[in-house]
Parts: sequence; structure tokens; C-alpha cells
Amino acid sequence: MFDKNNASILIVDDEATNLKLIDRVLAHAGYGDTVCLQDPREVFDCYAARDFDLILLDINMPHLSGYEVLEILREKHGENLAPVLVLTAQAAQEFRVKALNSGASDYVTKPFDRVELLARVCNLIKISLFQKSLRSENHLLEQKVKERTKELYQTRLQIVNRLGLAAEYRDNETGMHIMRMSHISKLLGKAAGLSQYHCDQLLNAAPMHDIGKIGIPDSILLKPGKLDADEWETMKTHTTIGATILSGEDSDLLSLAKEIAITHHEKWDGSGYPNGLKGEEIPLVGRICALADVFDALTSERPYKKAWTVEESVNFITENKGKHFDPNLVELFVECLPQIVGIKNLYPDNDTEEHEYKLLVS
Ligand code: C2E
Ligand code: SIN
Ligand code: SIN
Ligand code: FE
Ligand code: FE
Repeated sequence: MFDKNNASILIVDDEATNLKLIDRVLAHAGYGDTVCLQDPREVFDCYAARDFDLILLDINMPHLSGYEVLEILREKHGENLAPVLVLTAQAAQEFRVKALNSGASDYVTKPFDRVELLARVCNLIKISLFQKSLRSENHLLEQKVKERTKELYQTRLQIVNRLGLAAEYRDNETGMHIMRMSHISKLLGKAAGLSQYHCDQLLNAAPMHDIGKIGIPDSILLKPGKLDADEWETMKTHTTIGATILSGEDSDLLSLAKEIAITHHEKWDGSGYPNGLKGEEIPLVGRICALADVFDALTSERPYKKAWTVEESVNFITENKGKHFDPNLVELFVECLPQIVGIKNLYPDNDTEEHEYKLLVS
């Protein structure tokens, strides 16, 4: 059984004597929490203000009939509406059917039998409480599913980001290159008008741009000097190897990463690799990552080269506007330069703190 003191009941009847009678019967039976309304127009605010377990509703009332009250309540609260017990003076079957069809749960005819009224009230409150607990359980379940989904998403992000780091680790031990390069890519994406969602996707996919370096032998990747022609041919395959690793396209993130892996060394004038794409044939994300990648590679030390200054690197990029790089992006790059230098300072190579890395998993 439930606690009658905690079951809240709303009683609506235009006749004060009826209200009083019902209220007294319920109080006698132990129901301590009742609200009586004589004016059906007050039902909506009253019901919205608190959570009732049952509504006792008269049918014949001035201003609004019980049917109309029911209809409006249903519209407002839908499936969440508490059970409604209709009080009708009309014993005729058509009225009872009409009440049930309007969404009433049950009815009693006036003048009502005390015992019958209490039995129906008790049944409906049990149903009401049961539905309520189902709803809150459902809500809890939904919350849990949401949390789990988020956890899965976070885990997947961490895995793909760590995969990117693993590839980077051999020729760039701190992994800070991909941090900087990804944040610069996101910044350029934003400047180019990508949505917040796409900017975040870009931030999380860009770290995998060089994942194909996993397939490049150390003797080539770590060679202190210039590559010979054969070595260079092998080196270029890091784009197609990356695309192969990332294929399957089982998520938006991975297909974006694949697109970036295969296009980040294409050049605006068509002289890039692996496909010699030209201009806007190169996906925007590929053009963005190319710019961010080269800027960061130039300003960083590599096994085969010293770090360039920001000024030298910016000069190289502006000289290659319309050749290596999308001219529009070069303009945005120059406008954003202070923020880009800010990103470089935020993720220096000698900083391997885990918390810095986590910033990527947004
Ligand atoms: P990375 O070192 O991260 O360089 C990325 C891109 O930045 C390069 O793509 C290139 O466009 C630009 N870049 C980096 N350093 C220089 C530079 O000193 N001068 C100029 N003009 N551009 C530079 P790229 O050329 O397609 O190379 C792809 C990757 O191949 C490089 O990634 C690096 O891992 C490797 N690589 C390229 N050249 C050499 C080399 O001479 N020796 C060795 N050991 N590896 C090389
Ligand atoms: C790196 O060597 O750290 C990245 C190389 C690239 O982006 O091509
Ligand atoms: C090469 O031809 O060896 C690489 C080209 C470059 O890094 O600029
Ligand atoms: Fe690359
Ligand atoms: Fe790179």
C-alpha cells in the first residue's frame, strides 16, 4: 500500500457542497493532501504548479465543462497527466463512454456511493504512483544511456588521438606538433566559416593526418639529411597508408581524418601528392591542414632540418600563396597570426604534461 498522506488529489466541482462532501470523505479515509477548486478555469495553473497523483473532475460546470478541462490538460501534459476520475450526474452510458473517450481513467456517478468512490480513488492512485515510478526509472535509464554514450565517445576520441600521437612519436617525440597543428587547423576552420561542430571535428581528426608514418621505415623517417628519390617516393606513401588505416568510414570523425590524411600534402597549383589535386578539388579541410602543418613543421626542428623563425615561415607561406596554399586561407592565416603564435606558445615542444594533451579531447 501507499502512504495516503502523501497522495495528492485535486478535486474540481462547481458546487461547494459537493466539494466539501468529497473532501470530507477523502479526509476520513486518510487522504491528507487535497486541493479543492470550484472554478474549472483555475485548474490549469493549479495543476501546472505542482504534481498531483489524481484529479477528481465534475462534468457539468459553468465556463468550462469537464470534457473541455480534460482536453486542455491532455494537450498540455500529454502522457504525464495524472489519472482523472470523472464525477458525472448522468448515468446514461453515452456520457460515461464520452468521458472515457476524452481520456478519463474512470468515472463515478452522482450521488456516489462512498465505498465505491474510495475504491476507485485507491486504484487510480496506485496506478498513478506506479506510472510515476516507471517514468523516473525511464528517466534514470535515459540518463545512464547518455552518460555511457558520452563515455564511449570520449574513449573513442582518446583512442584516435593516441593513435595519432603514436605515429608522431618517432620523429617528433613530444607530440606537441599535432597539438599545435590541430588547434591552428581549428582556428583557421573557424576563420573560414566552419560551424562550431565542424571545427571541433577538425580539431579531433587533424591529429591523425600523419598516421601513415607508422608505415615508413625509421631509416627514411629519421634520416638526418635530404631524402633520395626512392626514399622520397616511400615517404610520400604516408598519405595513402594513412587513408588505408582510416578507411572503413565507420564514423564521421574517422572519415574526416581519412580525408585529411589523403589530402594534406596536395597543393593549390596541382603540384602536390598523392593525387595532384588542384584548387577547390582539394577538400577545404585538406587545404586548412596543409597550411597549419607546414607552418608548424617549418617553425619546428626536425631530424632533417633546423627550426625556422615565425617571420621566415610566414614569408614562405605568403610567397606560396596560390602556389602551395589556398590564397584565401593565406589571407585568413595572416589575419589570425597573433592567435596562431599564441597557440605555438601554449604548446611548446618541451611541455609533455598530460593535462595539456587532454585539452584536445573536447
Ligand atoms: P614534416 O617534417 O612534418 O613536414 C611537413 C611539411 O612541411 C613538408 O611536407 C613541407 O611541405 C613542409 N616543410 C617542412 N620542412 C621544410 C623545409 O625545410 N623546407 C620547405 N620548403 N618545406 C618544409 P613534405 O615536403 O611533403 O614532407 C612530408 C614529410 O616527409 C615531412 O613531414 C618529413 O617527415 C618528411 N621529409 C620531407 N623532406 C625530408 C627530408 O629531407 N629528410 C627527411 N628525413 N624527411 C623528410
Ligand atoms: C611530423 O613529422 O611531426 C609531422 C609531419 C607532417 O605533418 O607531414
Ligand atoms: C624532398 O624532395 O626530399 C622533400 C621536399 C621538401 O621537404 O620540401
Ligand atoms: Fe604529412
Ligand atoms: Fe604534420
